[in-house]
Amino acid sequence: MRLRGKQIARNTEIMNSKIKTLNDKLTLAKLGGGQARIDKQHQKKKLTARERVLYLLDEGSFEEIGALVTHRTKDFGMADQQFYGDGVVTGYGTVNGKLIYVFAQDFTVFGGSLSETHAEKICKIMDMAVNVGAPIIGLNDSGGARIQEGVRSLGGYADIFYRNVQASGVIPQISAIMGPCAGGAVYSPAMTDFTLMVENTSYMFVTGPNVVKTVTNEEVTSEELGGASVHSSKSGVAHKTSSNDVECLEDLKTLLSYVPQSNKCKVDDIPYVFKDEVRDVLSSIVPDNPNKPYDMHHIIEGIIDENSFYEIHKDYAENIIVGFARLGGKSIGIVANQPMFLAGVLDVNSSKKAARFVRFCDCFNIPLLVLEDVPGFLPGTDQEWNGIISNGAKLLYAFSEATVPRITVITRKAYGGAYDVMNSKHIGADMNFAWPNAEIAVMGAKGAAEIIFKREISEAEDKEAKWKEKEAEYADLFANPYSAAKRGFVDEVILPQNTRQKLIKAFSMLKNKDVSKPKRKHGNIPL
Ligand code: HXC
Repeated sequence: MRLRGKQIARNTEIMNSKIKTLNDKLTLAKLGGGQARIDKQHQKKKLTARERVLYLLDEGSFEEIGALVTHRTKDFGMADQQFYGDGVVTGYGTVNGKLIYVFAQDFTVFGGSLSETHAEKICKIMDMAVNVGAPIIGLNDSGGARIQEGVRSLGGYADIFYRNVQASGVIPQISAIMGPCAGGAVYSPAMTDFTLMVENTSYMFVTGPNVVKTVTNEEVTSEELGGASVHSSKSGVAHKTSSNDVECLEDLKTLLSYVPQSNKCKVDDIPYVFKDEVRDVLSSIVPDNPNKPYDMHHIIEGIIDENSFYEIHKDYAENIIVGFARLGGKSIGIVANQPMFLAGVLDVNSSKKAARFVRFCDCFNIPLLVLEDVPGFLPGTDQEWNGIISNGAKLLYAFSEATVPRITVITRKAYGGAYDVMNSKHIGADMNFAWPNAEIAVMGAKGAAEIIFKREISEAEDKEAKWKEKEAEYADLFANPYSAAKRGFVDEVILPQNTRQKLIKAFSMLKNKDVSKPKRKHGNIPL
């Protein structure tokens, strides 16, 4: 519906009737709005901005703010091109009964690009979300700063970026990328807590393929440059991907169920009656041979409430697993080494991935469970040159500053610096359990024997036999959890099948944990 600038109705009555006509044209409005009204065929298609909002929110709960706003630009013939709402639907409503604020960009209006007024609309609901204490959800589909507005649109973005930072750690901020997003349209999501992308229809890049070709002469498709698969596996910018809009919005709703409204509250528990919590399946997952891998997902599934794992960053840095789950009805965050991938070592990307997740949980009062089976940090030039020192330090820092209830279970290996980093008691974990087969040492017995018994081995007649003997000696002393338990670094050695019940009790014991920190402006995490 294009209107000439001068023709913009001044009379409210006329305006309202036009809005009504506009609404009548919207498929979903006609159908009544909400998830029940998206039929199966429609589910696989790209939804409009308004359809997305209506699908996300509880039926009948959406209240729009600023539907009549239009831009103020006169340059480049823009005065003649006015669209109510100026390319973004903003407002509030509920998801599963909980208040959220939402904006959805409309790519059909100047490519969803951000004008000064478009930015004002977003800022208005961001301010409300912070003042009231409720999550803000951005459904992004935008070509970035509106080129016709010059610095006014850049200023609009900066206003949003500033608010993203002020809101960080105060209310959950979640972004869904549901179309091509460029320029400022990617920097705001990057500062939010989670970014979800739709496969094959959404892209994120600072500049699109055309600009890339002009500047670097590189020919690249949108998908190769910034598609969902690239950002979920290579860059780590996307935390989750889904195959269509509806799936993405469902994912968003599930994610919201694990997070609180703001940093002032906790996530609502799902009622849970303590029953038989022994899980025999847990006793047969870790292989007897310490060098054989196993899938840590099986241990996670064995410990948590049925089907409650919501994995974040599934395809990125797969040597560490992070995600939300419920334990006895309570939302928890899980950080777990994955022996199936690179033997579960810590490296640059896994350290960054886990650190970011730990900090989110700590901001929003979500207790942390760490499942540890780590042979150490990944050695080599690639890692050193890419900053394993400062990146590994991020995870160390994140755990050390976290004050939420924190529990570790060592399922097998806890070697070297990684033992310290993975939520050890020394850096503030509340409880540390170990399974009987746990190995807690500076390094593996073979390598340790080679270094500390070098002379004895080299002087022995049968070097191989001596090495084996010394390896066994070292393993006997350290390849178990008891040395650590004697010193209190491990609170209890538990049978795997009892892990769930121990954790439910321990988290319940810790539920009123309240730690105050020395006054300071903020720490200086090694970014
Ligand atoms: C105004 C825009 C626009 C923009 C797209 N459109 N981006 N209008 N400002 N930023 C308009 C197009 O003119 C077109 O209008 C319609 O939206 C659809 O665009 P297409 O190019 O036809 O769509 P598509 O082929 O899907 O490509 C989408 C795109 C591409 C990849 C997003 O449009 C693009 O590269 N746009 C520019 C992206 C960009 O460089 N933005 C950065 C701005 S600077 P018609 O009338 O023809 O339908 C920025 C800096 C912020 O954001 C600060 C960061 C720190």
